[in-house]
Amino acid sequence: MRKSISGSRILVTGGAGFIGSHLVDALLVAGADEVVIIDNMFLGKRSNLRSAMSKGAVLYEQDAEDLDALSAIVENHKIDTVFNLATKALIYSFIDPLDAYMTNVIVMGNLLELQRKGAFSTLCHFSSSEVYGTAFYEPMDEQHPYNATTTYAGGKAAADIMLKTWVNMFSLDAFIVRPFNNYGPRQNWEPPLAGVIPLTVSRIIKGDAPQIHGNGSQSRDFIYVKDTVDATIQLFDVMVPGQEVNVSAEGMIAIGDLIAKIAESLGYTGEILRRERRVADVDCHNATNELCKSLIDLSIRSIDEGLEETIGWYQRNL
Ligand SMILES: NC(=O)c1ccc[n+]([C@@H]2O[C@H](COP(=O)([O-])OP(=O)(O)OC[C@H]3O[C@@H](n4cnc5c(N)ncnc54)[C@H](O)[C@@H]3O)[C@@H](O)[C@H]2O)c1
Repeated sequence: MRKSISGSRILVTGGAGFIGSHLVDALLVAGADEVVIIDNMFLGKRSNLRSAMSKGAVLYEQDAEDLDALSAIVENHKIDTVFNLATKALIYSFIDPLDAYMTNVIVMGNLLELQRKGAFSTLCHFSSSEVYGTAFYEPMDEQHPYNATTTYAGGKAAADIMLKTWVNMFSLDAFIVRPFNNYGPRQNWEPPLAGVIPLTVSRIIKGDAPQIHGNGSQSRDFIYVKDTVDATIQLFDVMVPGQEVNVSAEGMIAIGDLIAKIAESLGYTGEILRRERRVADVDCHNATNELCKSLIDLSIRSIDEGLEETIGWYQRNL
């Protein structure tokens, strides 16, 4: 029987990052006994955890690839459950492909071995829609084959397979939540590792022209970060070991249209710069939430509503 979030002692790897910090906030609201974060600050920011730390969350600025450090935190805080979000941004895999790949694998290996030895009970791992690569069929469901096109995605896919094999061999209580593209407050906006939404918003706010890689027809299924986190908190109670569930907004938008929407919201009427298409960029991501909706009461903000909250946050915080 899985211990519920309320009353549990929880570790979030990568918890000073974008999604991780929102998850930390939600875990505190859900009544976690203690929330501990390990983040090597590769992209994490202490400021993302300001509110959480004022409510008792504890941050260790350490590397989850360091087994001794990870193991000491798990033991000292008597951790029940780990949410694994530590990763290095997709764009970094164009800069250091091996490190981007290996971080996913080493952190997963450390966690699975600690769990196998009884150091903690439950592991909720964050995969990524990137493991599917460009769609073979649409909308993509959990049966879509792995077709990673970057080493980031390759490492994420490898970590998923590790989890499934450890569960199969050692009956661990571990499962996979697989979000599609997220956006929202606190997402890194600084080049060179920023994603398209924060990059576009920050460029326009700073007076620079936004830019499109390729012709802008490549599409993504964007979900607002707080909707992903709400879904995860609900899924935690119902997912079975080894299960994987996609979490998306079921709303595909072309990057060109997205940039036009952001420009319009910010009253920008200037030029949009054209850049070379990035090799290995996925063309199309469009998901179905059928499984997720059969398990929980999923509520999804529209892209317009989510963008308004997101743009407002960047206007107040940049
Ligand atoms: N953002 C998205 O659109 C998206 C979509 C699907 C899945 N995901 C997954 O969600 C999770 C969180 O992504 P995010 O967008 O918040 O990214 P993020 O980069 O904001 O957060 C990842 C965090 O991991 C930390 N980190 C990196 N290497 C580490 C290590 N060795 N030890 C400890 N910490 C380490 C980083 O400093 C960062 O704070 C990831 O697993 C990612 O694959 C994200």
